[in-house]
Amino acid sequence: MISSASGSRALFDIGDAERAAFRALPRHVWDFIDGGSGSESTLRANRTALDQVCLTPRALTGVTHGDCAGELLGSPVSMPVAVAPMAYQRLVHPDGELALARAARSAGVVFIASMLSSRTIEAIAGVGAETWFQLYWLRDRDRTEELIKRAEASGCRALVLTVDVPRMGRRLRDMRNAFTLPNTVTAANLPESPAAGPGSTAHREQPGGSAVMVHTAEALDPALSWADLEWIRDRTGLPLVLKGIMDPADASRAVDAGVDAMVVSNHGGRQLDGALPSVTALSSVVREVSGRCPVLVDSGIRSGTDVLKALALGASGVLVGRPALWGLAAGGRDGASEVLHLLHTELEQAMTLAGCADLSSAGRLTTTVPAGVLAARTGTTP
Ligand SMILES: Cc1cc2nc3c(=O)[nH]c(=O)nc-3n(C[C@H](O)[C@H](O)[C@H](O)COP(=O)(O)O)c2cc1C
Repeated sequence: MISSASGSRALFDIGDAERAAFRALPRHVWDFIDGGSGSESTLRANRTALDQVCLTPRALTGVTHGDCAGELLGSPVSMPVAVAPMAYQRLVHPDGELALARAARSAGVVFIASMLSSRTIEAIAGVGAETWFQLYWLRDRDRTEELIKRAEASGCRALVLTVDVPRMGRRLRDMRNAFTLPNTVTAANLPESPAAGPGSTAHREQPGGSAVMVHTAEALDPALSWADLEWIRDRTGLPLVLKGIMDPADASRAVDAGVDAMVVSNHGGRQLDGALPSVTALSSVVREVSGRCPVLVDSGIRSGTDVLKALALGASGVLVGRPALWGLAAGGRDGASEVLHLLHTELEQAMTLAGCADLSSAGRLTTTVPAGVLAARTGTTP
């Protein structure tokens, strides 16, 4: 049950959680979560593209139950889903990342902790979910290295390097709202940063701008390049995942660089406005990678059927972003658990109806995608 001022309501689809979160959150926090960059065309396109993918169900399979369980990079999962890294979760609920990590643990899915979490990685990993740590590239390399060591020491199972944020996209809603963090919400993993504590840049109003955007520009090094992957590789034995790969040429280069997995992602429509939908980029990346490492996808996943579509298009799993925050906003740990359990129920149902006994048969389903939804291969390597 997702609770709200008007009482508790059952959750029949993720849209119910979205509406409950909208009612629960102050408008500027809602906008921070919900918004995309620029005209939000990529944000909308992510949904349109997923809606246009059609699955071809198999008949007379004798399948009475779809087994969603599997593993992601060695982490056992009840379904091939990870909670996407999302910054500052205490904005939506006082228990923030701890509540969402607990929900992930009870649902048996991976929790990816953002470097910009409002709880420390030690506290989050202490919850006991299968935890991966997401890194942005800090201007200060020593501090990047220190964070990698902290993630390792606290038991994280993988490092996820986000590669689509040389700077933050222009999130116009946040700019119009002059969005700032309240002093109760800080970048808990960066306590020594002058930009992270209460009263810092992220908390000081920037007229006509977003304080979070200014803080990000201060903290992150925009010049991350392929050469830097080697630097990370030399410093950790953890599996390395690149998040934000869209072009098959980059996917190929990532495999050559020895990454362990990649996430096809346009950051939920929050970075390059006009970027193609992730699910559109997925097929050509899968084709290029050709089984050499797992390919995950995110941006716009809103149901178990969407998860099945991603699997049928060749993904090994998906990341789910905003829906998890909607559950957290509407009902704390229980609300987030409900969202994750609903996704499981829906995926199991969709697999059974499509005649898929397990994840490998889901990967063999035929999909039909209207012309133009599959990415044209026209780029050249920069
Ligand atoms: C509020 C919010 C904060 C986010 N913070 C991060 C972050 O710190 N690191 C990161 O790699 N991605 C971040 N993302 C992007 C998500 O990891 C993910 O790519 C995206 O939300 C997926 O799209 P979806 O929300 O439509 O599921 C954030 C997304 C949202 C909505």
